[in-house]
Amino acid sequence: MEIVKQVLYSGIQPTGIMTIGNYIGAVSNWNKMQNDYDCIFGLADLHAITVRQNPSEYRQKAISFFAQILACGLDPEKSIVYFQSHVHQHAELQWILNCYTYVGEMQRMTQFKDKSIKHEENINMGLLDYPVLMASDILLYKAALVPVGIDQKQHIEITRDIAIRFNGIYGDTFVVPDGYYPTLGAKIAGLQTPTGKMGKSDADPNNAVSIIEDPDSILRKFRRAVTDSDPFVSFDLLNKPGISNLLTILSAFTDVSIESLVNEYADGGYKRFKEAVGVAVVEGLSPIRDKYNTYMSDKSQLMDIAKQGALRASHIAEKTLSKVKRKVGLVEKARLN
Ligand code: TYM
Repeated sequence: MEIVKQVLYSGIQPTGIMTIGNYIGAVSNWNKMQNDYDCIFGLADLHAITVRQNPSEYRQKAISFFAQILACGLDPEKSIVYFQSHVHQHAELQWILNCYTYVGEMQRMTQFKDKSIKHEENINMGLLDYPVLMASDILLYKAALVPVGIDQKQHIEITRDIAIRFNGIYGDTFVVPDGYYPTLGAKIAGLQTPTGKMGKSDADPNNAVSIIEDPDSILRKFRRAVTDSDPFVSFDLLNKPGISNLLTILSAFTDVSIESLVNEYADGGYKRFKEAVGVAVVEGLSPIRDKYNTYMSDKSQLMDIAKQGALRASHIAEKTLSKVKRKVGLVEKARLN
């Protein structure tokens, strides 16, 4: 008997730099789940134009991000990996779902409020409508599970609300997805501001580490990481956010439990501990950087992977979109032959 696997969907926006926060909180978990689920990963390039991008830089960045997620271990033989903008069904389903989403729901989204403050000169419709596009990404593929960092929780919840609302009106159409948040590293903090998230577009370059960063620069950033005045290494998010964040990063990169790490580094002083974190990150990222360089050295192969991914994604997406169109009463297009 054939075992039908559940579908897993996730995505990342090609903005700023891909950080070790993205890697620990999301992408490394995608890799581990590839054997157990039918996995689909979208490079969310439509989402990222909600803020102004320089077109030629943006094109390069999107290609670089695509190579980075593959370099992290996504296997295009096992999983579908593609550019969101190559599958037109996303934007089409978004329009339909817009008609089942309330403006007030979108205005209450934390990310919309934050981005409206940050980009007050450009509070465009896309910024407001961002979660409906994300819902379309997930619902098109009937995904049961969406592995993301904790900052995306509100978006997963609104996706569920939209799916339940639509199913309530038209009968079973969408799978209502669950968010999957890692127990370790669902919110990696910045190295300079350990009470806030390590962001991709941080103004302070010392706050975030890119997954393809030069080893010397990585070591330097960890040596400079903000800690506290008490010399003992222990896990205490409230009183020792910097050290706790570094312990989380070290645990993620070594697969050693936080408890064992605390035993090992408790009395050795912060200098030795921070050096160990830097070295572990450099070592963990080294094969990723090599693979990234290989992918980037053959752009035609890279774009071929993207093309195959888009074809496979589009085939699935079209089935859901046709069903949705039928359900809401749109007239079926006559076959063009
Ligand atoms: P994005 O591009 O901001 O981030 C990609 C993934 O990385 C996680 N993440 C973090 N995890 C731990 N610590 C951090 N400091 C950290 N920073 C980011 C995010 O939670 C996310 O899982 N809207 C999404 C992209 C998206 C998507 C989707 C995700 C578009 N469509 C459909 C899932 C399903 C975003 O902006 O993620």
